[in-house]
Amino acid sequence: MNKFKNILAATIVASLALPGIAYADGTVEVLHWWTSGGEAKAIGELKKAFEAEGGKWVDSPIAGGGGDAAMTALRARVVAGNPPTAVQLKGPGIQEWAALGALDDVQDVADEEGWDDELPPALAKIMKYDGKYVAVPVNIHRVDWFWANPEVLAKVGVTEMPTTWGEFNTVADKLKEAGITPLAHGGQPWQDATIFEDVVLGIGGADFFRKALIDLDQDALTSDTMVKSFDQLRKLRGYVDPNFSGRDWNLATAMVMRSEAGFQIMGDWAKGEFLTAGKVPGKDFVCAPTPGKGFVLNSDSFTFFKVTGEEKVEGQKVLASLIISPKFQETFNLAKGSIPARTDVTLDKFDDCAKKSHADLLAAIKADSLVPSMAHEMAVPRSVRGEFLDLVTNFFNSDMSSEDAVKTLAAAVKRAQQ
Ligand code: GAL
Repeated sequence: MNKFKNILAATIVASLALPGIAYADGTVEVLHWWTSGGEAKAIGELKKAFEAEGGKWVDSPIAGGGGDAAMTALRARVVAGNPPTAVQLKGPGIQEWAALGALDDVQDVADEEGWDDELPPALAKIMKYDGKYVAVPVNIHRVDWFWANPEVLAKVGVTEMPTTWGEFNTVADKLKEAGITPLAHGGQPWQDATIFEDVVLGIGGADFFRKALIDLDQDALTSDTMVKSFDQLRKLRGYVDPNFSGRDWNLATAMVMRSEAGFQIMGDWAKGEFLTAGKVPGKDFVCAPTPGKGFVLNSDSFTFFKVTGEEKVEGQKVLASLIISPKFQETFNLAKGSIPARTDVTLDKFDDCAKKSHADLLAAIKADSLVPSMAHEMAVPRSVRGEFLDLVTNFFNSDMSSEDAVKTLAAAVKRAQQ
């Protein structure tokens, strides 16, 4: 059903009176950071669906994986008194903007459509402020993945994906000896933090991850386990090529595709790149969780900033309803590499990586080993995340010892909390 049905009638009347005015109905300006091949395809599906409803879409993409540049742009727009109508935002960021009174809620749409029955409770909680939905989730991404080129691994006789960091190091050493870059990586703080948190899960397990990266427990932050995690990060530093600095994550994915590297450690948005390039999972590329029992959760969502004008408010409601619709959740996530945020969408059309993600997600919920991503802003305030990113990047780009790293990190996190 056309969500703009009612106002469309008004539009026709208006356009008869004023030829040339195309839209008197819902409008959204959408600020997002989805500019890579797979990301652009996925957000393109949302634009298409919104326009099919008769709405007008104004695209405001801010390039930069992980969204740090987009968040800076958002702050500037809000300070200038000109917020976009819809913004890709997540985790504590949703709460922070809502607490400032900057967000409109879409509770009336949620009530009408029964969102509480359709979303996992843990996700619904993140989307609500003061008991009302101020955000709507579009997907569930998993952060702890290896992506590998099986043809490259076969060159050194490897046919199985590593299941421990020790095994990974052995394979990586073989690749290095054969003159192949073991790890495709982009040296940007959010990417460094992505591989760091995956290592922490593998070395310390989910409980340790939670203590150190979410609860910010000083004992965990200065523990031997954290020293060992930095030791493994130092190992990974030895497996990247000399030109890693500043490289975008999707270019690192392309290195794996082009057989220039064996692995990439990245969330499943990397799968969106492989698929957009026509690569076949299980054949051209393989996926496997990075070592460690658990699941590092990253969910993208959209928020609706307070704007004036009936057509903008209407646009927000239509967009919210579209995002949550089962059909859209399927189409979008097939392109994005993630799985639907709704629990009632079947995965029939999805590949084995997505099915594995879903099965492991359910198992992690059961085993209490589901952890929210620190690197992808699902867990800690931006100020604390900033300290992690700074330290991890400094470590990666210097010869800092693991012992010094944990001390400096623990002190910086403490300061950020005061
Ligand atoms: C993440 C986001 C993903 C993906 C990635 C790279 O933070 O949740 O959807 O786009 O950044 O840009």
